[in-house]
This record gives sequence, C-alpha cells and structure tokens, in this order.
Amino acid sequence: MNIKIREMTIDDLKTLSSILTTQFDDFWNISILESELKNDNTFYFVAVLNEEIVGFIGIHIICDEANLMNIVVNKKFRNQKIGSKLLDYILGFCEIKNLSTITLEVSIKNSYAIELYKKFDFEILGKRKGYYNGTDALIMTKYFDI
Ligand SMILES: CC(C)(COP(=O)(O)OP(=O)(O)OC[C@H]1O[C@@H](n2cnc3c(N)ncnc32)[C@H](O)[C@@H]1OP(=O)(O)O)[C@@H](O)C(=O)NCCC(=O)NCCS
Repeated sequence: MNIKIREMTIDDLKTLSSILTTQFDDFWNISILESELKNDNTFYFVAVLNEEIVGFIGIHIICDEANLMNIVVNKKFRNQKIGSKLLDYILGFCEIKNLSTITLEVSIKNSYAIELYKKFDFEILGKRKGYYNGTDALIMTKYFDI
C-alpha cells in the first residue's frame, strides 16, 4: 500500500469537510481543524492513498513537549497499518524537533488505540476521570531519548 504522508493544508479541509463525519467518525469537527491549522504551535499531517486522504494526525507543541490532538483513519481503511504509519511519522517529526515527550489522552474504551500506542512504547501515566462525556481517559506518554 503506497501511503504518502504530507502536511495538511487549508485546501485539504474542503475535501475533508464533505467526508469527515461520514467516513472518519462523527466527532471530528472541520471548524476545529481550521483553527488548528492557523495555530503556529500546531502541526497536522495527512495520509494519502491514490490522491485520497485516508487519515490524519495532529500535534500541539509547547516548549519541548508535544500533545497528540488526534489521529484518525478513514473507517474503510482501518487495521491496514495507516494509523501506525501516521504515528511513526509524527514520532520522527518530534525527534527532529528535539522534543522530550509526547502525551495524549485516550478513552479507556478505545482498546484499538491503546494497543497502537503501547506498540509505540507509550506508557500509561494516569487517568482523567470522566474526561470524555463521563468516560475516563488514560494519559499516555512516550519519552524520547534526548
Ligand atoms: C486508532 C486508529 C487511528 C488506528 O488506525 P489503524 O490504521 O486502524 O491502525 P493500524 O492498522 O496501524 O493498527 C495498529 C495496531 O492497533 C491495534 N488495532 C487497530 N485496529 C484494530 C482492530 N480492528 N482490531 C484489533 N486491533 C486493532 C492493533 O494492536 C494494531 O497492531 P497489529 O496490526 O500489529 O495487531 C483507528 O482505529 C481510528 O481511526 N480510530 C478512530 C479514531 C480514534 O479513536 N483515534 C484515537 C483517538 S485517542
């Protein structure tokens, strides 16, 4: 599968807006993505297969720490390593930027995502009670060797 990863652009939002809620899960919001792209501390990348956007990932950077804002793969393309490719790419990006950690919150019910993060050596550091509409979130962090 020839997946290419590149930076997300404002033009991508036009493409994504028509498919975001139907093909990527209904909790992603195009106006949030739009404001994310205007933020200088925010970096978003898309995974492209045959010119179709099949996934995206975004981080905020504060000082030497990244916060993973989201990672999502088109429902039709899940479980084919696209999420792994996006995560691997963003971890490389963090290392190029000399960051020391990357942290995220994930619902305790999201076992696929938790497994994905564990494969990339994220550690569970704590829990946020009721973080997702009453469902607890795990706080997971990966440390880079600096
Ligand atoms: C989480 C998500 C990004 C993973 O993307 P993906 O392309 O499907 O993931 P990959 O194919 O790279 O799988 C990586 C690992 O995740 C786990 N996993 C992913 N999908 C799985 C499935 N359907 N069944 C079991 N394990 C699964 C496995 O551990 C897998 O590793 P393996 O293939 O070596 O067993 C994707 O499921 C998604 O978009 N989910 C909705 C959005 C979301 O919940 N994002 C996380 C927010 S914190």
